[in-house]
This record gives sequence, C-alpha cells and structure tokens, in this order.
Amino acid sequence: MPDAHVELRGVSKLFGATTAVDDVSLSIDRGSVHALVGENGAGKSTVGKIIAGVHRPDVGSILVDGQRVIFRSPRDALAQGITMVAQELSLVPARSVRDNVFLGGEPSRAGFVRTREQRRHFDSIIERVGFDVPLDALVMDLAVAEQQKVEILRALGRNANLIIMDEPTARLSTDEAQTLLSIVARLSREGTTVILVSHFLDQVLEAADVVSVLRDGALVSSRAAREETERTLVEAMIGRTLDTSFPPKSVPPPDAPIVLDVRGLRCGGTGPLIDLTVRAGEIVGLAGLVGSGRSEIARAIYGADRRAEGEVTACGRPVKRRSTRSSIRAGMGLIPESRKDQGLLLGRSIRDNVALPHLDVLSRLGWMRRQPENQAVTKATEVVDIRSSSIEQAVMELSGGNQQKSLFARWFLNSRSVLIADEPTRGVDVGAKRAIYDLITDAASAGLAVLFVSSELEEVMGLAHRVLVVRDQQIVLELAGDELDETRILGAAFATTAGETR
Ligand SMILES: Nc1ncnc2c1ncn2[C@@H]1O[C@H](COP(=O)(O)OP(=O)(O)OP(=O)(O)O)[C@@H](O)[C@H]1O
Ligand SMILES: [Mg+2]
Repeated sequence: MPDAHVELRGVSKLFGATTAVDDVSLSIDRGSVHALVGENGAGKSTVGKIIAGVHRPDVGSILVDGQRVIFRSPRDALAQGITMVAQELSLVPARSVRDNVFLGGEPSRAGFVRTREQRRHFDSIIERVGFDVPLDALVMDLAVAEQQKVEILRALGRNANLIIMDEPTARLSTDEAQTLLSIVARLSREGTTVILVSHFLDQVLEAADVVSVLRDGALVSSRAAREETERTLVEAMIGRTLDTSFPPKSVPPPDAPIVLDVRGLRCGGTGPLIDLTVRAGEIVGLAGLVGSGRSEIARAIYGADRRAEGEVTACGRPVKRRSTRSSIRAGMGLIPESRKDQGLLLGRSIRDNVALPHLDVLSRLGWMRRQPENQAVTKATEVVDIRSSSIEQAVMELSGGNQQKSLFARWFLNSRSVLIADEPTRGVDVGAKRAIYDLITDAASAGLAVLFVSSELEEVMGLAHRVLVVRDQQIVLELAGDELDETRILGAAFATTAGETR
C-alpha cells in the first residue's frame, strides 16, 4: 500500500464565473515525483497553489499524511513542510540572493539573522544542487535564468518535504534543466515529494513516477509515467489528436527588400559590433546558449537598451532617437523574454495591456474612441486564442500561458514592419505553440521581417529560413536554407567547432 503524502478529495476552486479546478480527487505518494500537465488554463497552477496554501478550495478537502488540514496561508503549508516554486518569479529584486533564499524562512531566531549559520546552510544547498549563483549579488542584477535558480534554492533552503515546482525549467537552458531534473530525482530518493508542473513532456516522462492530466480544471487521468508517451499525454490534455509539426516554410525571394537593417550594433556600450539584416517575409532565428547575448541583441535592436549604440533602419527609414517609442512608431514589435518584469501591467485588463503601447498611434489616427480599440484588441486576442472571461479581465487572473499570449497579442497588433520575439513559446502548451508558429509564419508571409530567439533547437530548425548563432554577444555562425544543421549550430553555440566563422 503506497503511502499517500497529500490527498485532494473532491476539490473545486472558482474564480468568479471561472471554474479553475473542478472536483479533483488526487493522491500523491510520499517521495514520488508527481507531474501535472495540461493546456494553458487547465488548472495546474491553481492545484499547486491550493496544496501550497496560496488558495483555499471552495469545495472539498486536503489531507496531509491522512489528516485533514486547512491552510489559511502559505505559512500554514510551510509549517507542514510544503512549499512552492511559483511559475512567475516572486523574488525581491533589490535584495541579495542570500536574503531572498532565506527571506521568511529558517534559520533565524527572534528576528536575529544568523549570518554564519546561513552561509553554511547556503553552501550546503549549493553543493547539493551544483548551481553557481553569487550569494551577495542583487537579484535585479541577475539574468532571468539565474533568478529562476534562486527561486529553486529558496525552496530547497526551506527544508520542505514536499516541493511544488511550477514550470521550473521554463527559463533554464537544456543543461540546467537536466541538472534540475537530477536534483528532482535526488530529492525523491531522499524521501522528498515533488509535484512537477511542466509543458516539457519529454522532461515529464523522464522525471516523473506518475503523471496526472488536467483538462478544463478536471482530472482526466493519473497514471504511471511508464504507461504514457508524449502522444498519449497530448491527446489526454486536449481531447483530440494534434498536428505538432511546423507550418511549411515559404522562403522569400532572394531579392525581397531588406526590412530590418542593423549596423554597428553594440549592446550595453561594450562588446563587438554587430551587423544584420532581415528581408521582408524572412524568419531569422537567433540561436545560442542562455546568457550568450541573444536577448541583449534583440533588446538593443528594439531600442530597449539605452546604452546600446548602432543604427537601425526599418523599411528603409532610420529609426531616429533610438528608443522603444520610436521603434513602436516604426512598426516594430518586441515580445520580451520575461513577461512579468518586462511587459505586463498585471493589475490592468487584457484590453489595456494589449492596446497600451498603441494608444499613441491609435489616438494620432483619431482612434481614441473605445470601439475600434475594442475591436482591434478582440481580434488580436482571438488570433492568439487567449482564454479569458472577457477582454476586461485583469491579466493577473490569467494562467501563465495566457499571459504570454496577451503579450503576443499586443505586439501582433503593432507589428507592421518588424516582429522580434524572444522565446515566444516558453510556458505555452502544445496547442498554443503550434498557434504561435502559425502566427509567426503568417506574419512573415504578410511581408514582415521576423527575428526570433529560441533555446529550442527543434523550433529554430522548424521555423527559421536563416539562423544566426550567438556566442559571447557575437554572431559566430550564419546558416541559411539547406545549410541548417543542428550539429553545426550546437557546435558553434558551445564553441567546439574551432575555426568555424561567419
Ligand atoms: N487569481 C485568479 N483570478 C481569477 N481567475 C484565475 C486566477 N488564477 C487563475 N485563474 C483562472 O483559472 C484557470 C486556471 O488557471 P491556472 O493558472 O491554474 O492554469 P494553468 O494550468 O496553470 O495554466 P498555464 O499552463 O497557462 O500556466 C484559468 O482560466 C485562469 O484564468
Ligand atoms: Mg500555470
């Protein structure tokens, strides 16, 4: 008889008219790795948050070690050894890594922070997980992937016996994701229960003992991972079979006009000079490792990096006074890497969020009236298939994947010349992924120049007409058409192919 660590009995959770979790009964064995999968908005995070004491169920009960519990706050759950690594980063940016790892946790007594003990504790965690994060650095100075590691360290630092990890690998490189999965395996061997929420079904099948599938808030299945395949999971998630292939590539003619022309770009005032062009209808992928400088290049082109130097021309017209404002005027759109701190106003409606950067343009066109704005927003949200009660719903209330789609809708509405997308499919489900691929392909077919950053090689290979490999903020390899080759891309990203230059 397996030993149930946590059990949900007939749990439901409503947010207004939305049934986020619908009569879920689920048993999670002690020391197991239990994965939760499902489409965006299926209720995975909500189930996690109910177990972690963030939300209280409206109906049903929770049992820990066979005892009924009522969690009024995450603190109550932590007292039972339960903690959560949230999907959206929740660190305090102006504090150090050390402070964040120990904030609100042990070991401290009567408000007195015992620094030496902390350092020892911290060192032992670092040693266990093999993450290399500078202890005294401020969180805001770290890249997003590093911040994700701090989140994980914080959960481990709490000595929890049940950790809920909501998309923990969404911001990590392939290597780091593997490291995290080995930590998960180790935790489980040591008796810690892990609830793993992920859209990476390959990782789920590798790491989990049991996989539970949620659809529209309800539990569809809960079976041993060895009985599942990616295909069976996808079918259970969406209730039908799915075409997960990439849309056909329509290569632009070689004499298509250059829409995006970047000359002598230098990120952050230092580093090498970069030149690149993208033609109308062309999809160019920026490949490389996390931290190689891909996002920095994307941001600098868009004018989001004040220290960047260089010239950017969109549709033959130089983008003057390089700033995000002038880029927007030039019809450029950037879908940023991290939605929480680089884009969305969480407390505002979908409508405001999607229309916000365009109000300037809309009003100059005499469009300040609500109606055309609503129509444009509604159309954009339909195109990307945002699941919400209405466009008036606050973005904060959307599931993580639907927040990502809101950003997509925003820039989709604006992009008239150039679309720059940084990891556009991170955190979205398989169905939405395909929808985003279609959107990118359609944007290119409509004559836009598309530049996208992706850590998924399959995505780069499947979408791009041309690939630029970035290493140390430089473009070290360029491959187009038939030259596209995974081994060469990886080799250049890791610098193992000596002598291969652009
Ligand atoms: N605080 C909230 N207020 C209102 N509605 C919410 C809130 N949190 C979640 N919801 C709604 O509950 C449903 C389930 O959301 P949840 O975040 O659990 O989905 P998810 O499976 O984690 O999706 P994703 O893969 O996109 O992260 C969605 O329809 C979402 O809009
Ligand atoms: Mg979620």
